[in-house]
Amino acid sequence: MPGRFRIYFVSSNEHKFREIKLVLMEYNISAIRRKADLKEIQSLDLEDIAREKAFSAHEIVKKSIIVEDAGLFIDALGGFPGPYSSFVQQTIGCEGILTLLRNKLSRKATFKSALVCADRNGKLLTFLGGVTGTISQDLCGDHGFGFDPIFIPDGHRDTYALMLDAEKNLISHRAIATRKFADWFLKRQRTKE
Ligand code: IMP
Repeated sequence: MPGRFRIYFVSSNEHKFREIKLVLMEYNISAIRRKADLKEIQSLDLEDIAREKAFSAHEIVKKSIIVEDAGLFIDALGGFPGPYSSFVQQTIGCEGILTLLRNKLSRKATFKSALVCADRNGKLLTFLGGVTGTISQDLCGDHGFGFDPIFIPDGHRDTYALMLDAEKNLISHRAIATRKFADWFLKRQRTKE
């Protein structure tokens, strides 16, 4: 059943869309996907990258939109790959990360998400989410995407990739940012009514 409210989610990533759509359904908000390869600026700050993407997405769609940018920040690697997560995933992948961590004492890491909404007039608002965890010794699990097979959120024994979307959504960095957005969005709709 379609939700009472609608928002366009601009992304080329099917997995992110599924996760965000599921969370927003809880708030009676329908996420409608618009595929677009948005240009990504070079920055060490996820928020800056996401805001630039939101600006471009709004130029294309000309309606209220959301975009999301995420990255895995590994303590022992000085926060690498962080904003370079996409490139690192496409090049050395999860195995490459495990190799870089061989002999490192700490396997602590944080997954961060920056979700940016551009309202109908193009005004930008950012919602952040973060989850701390550890990098596993081996790849584990078939669900999800990207670094899911090597990230174990704190308080859990399983990697993200051993969780179904609904389970990952109870705790993930993206779900935290999405819930913050949904709370704000619903509050704003109520003040309009
Ligand atoms: P993006 O720039 O936000 O599309 O994400 C950068 C990269 O980080 C993606 O290509 C994935 O490899 C990785 N990534 C982002 N979010 C997640 C996640 O929730 N799980 C696993 N990997 C992720």
